[in-house]
Amino acid sequence: MNFREELNQRTAKTEEIIMAYLPHVEGHAFRLSEAMSYSLTAGGKRLRPLLMKEVYEIFGGQEKVIEPFMAGMEMIHTHSLIHDDLPALDNDDLRRGKPTVHKVFGEACAILAGDALLNYAYETMLGGFGMTRYPDRVVKALCLIAEKTGIQGMLGGQSVDVENDGKPLRASVLEYIYEKKTSALLEASMQIGAILAGASENACDVIGLAASNIGLAFQIRDDILDLISTDQVLGKPVHSDEKNLKTTYVTLNGLEKAEARVKELTQTALDALRFTGRDITFLCSLVESLAVREK
Ligand code: IPE
Ligand code: IPE
Ligand code: MG
Ligand code: MG
Ligand code: MG
Repeated sequence: MNFREELNQRTAKTEEIIMAYLPHVEGHAFRLSEAMSYSLTAGGKRLRPLLMKEVYEIFGGQEKVIEPFMAGMEMIHTHSLIHDDLPALDNDDLRRGKPTVHKVFGEACAILAGDALLNYAYETMLGGFGMTRYPDRVVKALCLIAEKTGIQGMLGGQSVDVENDGKPLRASVLEYIYEKKTSALLEASMQIGAILAGASENACDVIGLAASNIGLAFQIRDDILDLISTDQVLGKPVHSDEKNLKTTYVTLNGLEKAEARVKELTQTALDALRFTGRDITFLCSLVESLAVREK
């Protein structure tokens, strides 16, 4: 099987796992659960759960406990997208090739669907306690995900990002924003794979370092695509950064330097992964493919 076929197969399996954990509510709150499922089932690359499972298996993980964490991570990520698109943040109308949640369900419902997904992620992951012989690892994974999602992680980064719309940024602040708004969830995803598999502290650190570089490269590539792609290919509106007067790696350094930095960060990530001494063939191909992704 070549890399693309293998990626398709693993993405399909990931999709199945996410679908198994969709929220179902009948009765008065039905519309809220519809809005949550609308965005979760709209597609997306499923990169975070894919990376999580890959790292879990690389370190010998075999239990079902990884599944609620894969679904939970995709819920947290999807919540971040619903809120990122809101009129008060990036004000975008298209996501994963479909109208955004606030366009279909209204703004109030989109805010609540984002909140509810974030909460449902933890409800889902708490189910992991019943699926493992190592509950201490589940505690550790939950603590990490809470930290990387909240004020010290993704949400902290998003807040600094939006409050600087229209303002010039120093390179160091921009790096802080990318590290938090994008790398933090990738770090959590990959490190949770390692933690739940019982990898050593040192191995978890190496995975964290690789993930941080993958995240920075991922966000710079996102900024490049915002400039050079199309709505159809990307499934979200291009030129969103320009519309919001955002300083990005591309506005600060130009396209050529941005592309070079993506390559450099990817190489650093690959070097770190090789340091694990494990069979990382598929993982390396996946990381390499992200550097040149078209969506
Ligand atoms: C988009 O993430 C938000 C960023 C961190 C740039 P993805 O590009 O992973 O979005 P989906 O999940 O594939 O829709
Ligand atoms: C947002 O970055 C990252 C998140 C935490 C959602 P962007 O605002 O650039 O993400 P897109 O381009 O809308 O997906
Ligand atoms: Mg944004
Ligand atoms: Mg956005
Ligand atoms: Mg973007």
